[in-house]
Amino acid sequence: MGIAVSSGTAALHSACIAADLGEGDEAIVPTLTFSATAAAVRLTGAEVQLADIDPETLGLSEATAQPHVSSKTKALLAVDFSGQPCDWDGLSQLCLDKEIVSIADAAHALGASYSGRNVGSLADMTCFSFHPVKAITTAEGGMAVTASEQLAHRLRKLRGHGIVRDGAEFLNSDESEVGPWYYEIHDIGLNYRISDVHCALGLSQFQKLDGFISRREELAAHYSEAFLGSDLLKTPVVKADRKSAWHLYTVKLNLDALAWSRGRIFEVLKRTRLGCSSALYTSALTALLSGSLWV
Ligand SMILES: Cc1ncc(COP(=O)(O)O)c(C=O)c1O
Repeated sequence: MGIAVSSGTAALHSACIAADLGEGDEAIVPTLTFSATAAAVRLTGAEVQLADIDPETLGLSEATAQPHVSSKTKALLAVDFSGQPCDWDGLSQLCLDKEIVSIADAAHALGASYSGRNVGSLADMTCFSFHPVKAITTAEGGMAVTASEQLAHRLRKLRGHGIVRDGAEFLNSDESEVGPWYYEIHDIGLNYRISDVHCALGLSQFQKLDGFISRREELAAHYSEAFLGSDLLKTPVVKADRKSAWHLYTVKLNLDALAWSRGRIFEVLKRTRLGCSSALYTSALTALLSGSLWV
């Protein structure tokens, strides 16, 4: 089941609420991600536990996440960074053993797969972003997907102010008050709806997803061939058991061997109209993690 919402951040925030995260709880988040992953946790009042990433996949693994599990851990948000799925078998087992809700931040990974299984089917809830730089776009938008009826039901309610229109669920059984006009509010919900117009764009984009990913694969192969044997940088590695959606082509620079600083390299790439970015969220993240910014 897919619950379309107004952004990837809205999907992550709704998923964190649906996982029942709140004050006194902890959620594991990778060190390498966009701030929205951690912000979604903090907005519920729960604490973020930052865990390191696997150097190859650039995502969480069982080995990097496990030391951060405590009796307060209620959720784990793993980011399929750059489009490559994390080691989901190990992560799912860890979550199962420790009764932790698994949430995939798959903002980069629509169309990717792991051991033949599509991203979207690997965690309890998976969150996608349809921002214009992503694999497909709805101009702005996102989606939370889950195989759990219970979680889907909660996510739908959260999207629309917590409103319930199904008579079977009404708390009020007084027939004189319950008519077709009647609804109840069962949750402190949000307005995270996405419009029909944005969805129409998304449906048309979705038809083109395979073609978009094939083109990204071609470009990634082109870069990897061009950089082959270079000792100035390390090219990304995609593990044999998975398919990347190639949202980003990440290189690790060998700064000791390079005459230019990272900043200078970015400037030159930007000038040649090659989009590149790196962000240091230090001050925002510190405030976010200490709770002074959002909660
Ligand atoms: C890893 C990750 N998660 C979440 C988001 C947030 O998605 P949105 O911009 O649709 O809110 C982004 C956006 O870039 C992202 O890169």
